[in-house]
Amino acid sequence: MRIAIVGGTGPFGVALATRLREAGHDVVLGSRDAARAKDAAAELGVEGAMNGEAVRDADLVVLATNADAALDTARLLRESIGSTPVLCVASELRFTSSGVLPSPEAVSLAERIQAHLEGPVVAGLHSLAASTLGRDEPPDEDAFVCGDDSEVKTLVLEVAERLIAGRAFDAGPLASARALEGMIAVAVNLNKRYRGHAGIRVTGLR
Ligand SMILES: NC(=O)c1ccc[n+]([C@@H]2O[C@H](COP(=O)([O-])OP(=O)(O)OC[C@H]3O[C@@H](n4cnc5c(N)ncnc54)[C@H](OP(=O)(O)O)[C@@H]3O)[C@@H](O)[C@H]2O)c1
Repeated sequence: MRIAIVGGTGPFGVALATRLREAGHDVVLGSRDAARAKDAAAELGVEGAMNGEAVRDADLVVLATNADAALDTARLLRESIGSTPVLCVASELRFTSSGVLPSPEAVSLAERIQAHLEGPVVAGLHSLAASTLGRDEPPDEDAFVCGDDSEVKTLVLEVAERLIAGRAFDAGPLASARALEGMIAVAVNLNKRYRGHAGIRVTGLR
């Protein structure tokens, strides 16, 4: 499958690209800057292009810009993305003196992005830290994907399953993305308090 990673030059995009390439996918790393895309991509042995070019022939677009830029980037790329499915991995977090908080928005970022795009948006992989995803061994944790289009959700679950040592779970409709996005505030607080990179494993399921 051809997977374009918009904003793929960041730590998450680079780690994801590495794993996706190992899993046999055709990966295109996107950036706002052609040279930055090509340099980062060359190091990984994948393709690199401006974001708008990268998404053009993709089967799946991963929106991996920093969270604050995700909505505007989706708006900007609307025409180029067309009806291609989009995976939103972003969590909007608020860093305060008392700790990290989830976004106060009543509607998830993924749903707000969906409102601007023609194709289906699914949300997932939020809990996979770039630092653990980028290691040689697949991270010993589960992954979660929310979405309303069951075909696209199945496709993304299959992709996710190959990235981790744990399981990729269907975590419900896109409206549940708010919980997945907010959960990362808890993970970051755990990372700070207990020094590490929290991953999530679900027990009690068949
Ligand atoms: N880091 C993690 O462990 C982790 C884990 C799970 C999910 N996520 C999610 O994955 C996404 C990427 O995380 P990250 O840590 O890799 O983020 P990041 O380094 O802050 O940003 C990723 C890329 O976004 C692009 N970008 C920055 N500002 C932009 C703007 N105003 N408009 C368009 N593009 C812009 C940059 O690429 P160019 O300058 O090359 O365009 C940058 O390399 C985030 O949404 C985050 O919530 C991160």
